[in-house]
Amino acid sequence: MSGANDGRTLKFHILKYDPQQGGDKPRMVTYEVKEAPGMTIFIALNEIRETQDRALQFDFVCRAGICGSCGMVINGKPDLACRTLTAKFKKPEITLLPLPAFDLIGDLSVNTGSYTRAMSERVRTWIHDEEGKQVDLNELEERMDPDLADEIYELDRCIECGCCISACATKRMRDGFLGAMGFMKVARFAVDSRDKRSDSDWYEVIGNDDGVFGCMSLMGCEDNCPKDLPHQTKIAYLRRKMVGAAR
Ligand code: SF4
Ligand code: SF4
Ligand code: FES
Repeated sequence: MSGANDGRTLKFHILKYDPQQGGDKPRMVTYEVKEAPGMTIFIALNEIRETQDRALQFDFVCRAGICGSCGMVINGKPDLACRTLTAKFKKPEITLLPLPAFDLIGDLSVNTGSYTRAMSERVRTWIHDEEGKQVDLNELEERMDPDLADEIYELDRCIECGCCISACATKRMRDGFLGAMGFMKVARFAVDSRDKRSDSDWYEVIGNDDGVFGCMSLMGCEDNCPKDLPHQTKIAYLRRKMVGAAR
């Protein structure tokens, strides 16, 4: 089946810069690619790397919107390269930049790992059971209300791509701000009945300007999350929880 845009020649304007190489300077380089039906930004980048620029740096693992590696700024919007069809752009000019707010490895490749690791240690992203409770491996797991299981599942869909962090003006201004990915993790454990952390415990983590009280609620996170996590609802939920804990 032919697409409406078959036969277009796409012009990709891509930031090239290798900070590891002394003397290298950031510059935009243009590559031309013949559009094919079903072409994604990832497929186009692969073609560019195979046929025009062997040194072009970008990340991917799954090619299916699951691993979160291929986040980049596509025509001004943080998104996943493997899930973005070139056909969605009416004009044949596509600009690609690395995600801001993360250290640049080179070209379109950034290090989201250092943020994610620090965030996981800060939020302590694992179930906190009652202190001192002995684990009995023969014990049956407690039943969970299906609606609660759905709520947890919804939040667990975060692929740690970093698009919400890059779209957040507060995070760009203040490095210590936890950011939306962190808020989604806090919400995920705060709603989980197996996690015994109290609102006061959570207040220690997010009850300040580097937590939910620093969030400006402009919802760049909600608008740019490729997995459509419920940022608005859950940030409001956390804020209400923290106001209650502060009383
Ligand atoms: S919340 Fe959404 S945008 Fe943020 S890291 Fe997770 S999947 Fe990516
Ligand atoms: S709503 Fe809060 S977390 Fe989301 S982008 Fe805005 S400041 Fe960042
Ligand atoms: S390559 Fe895994 S999300 Fe795009």
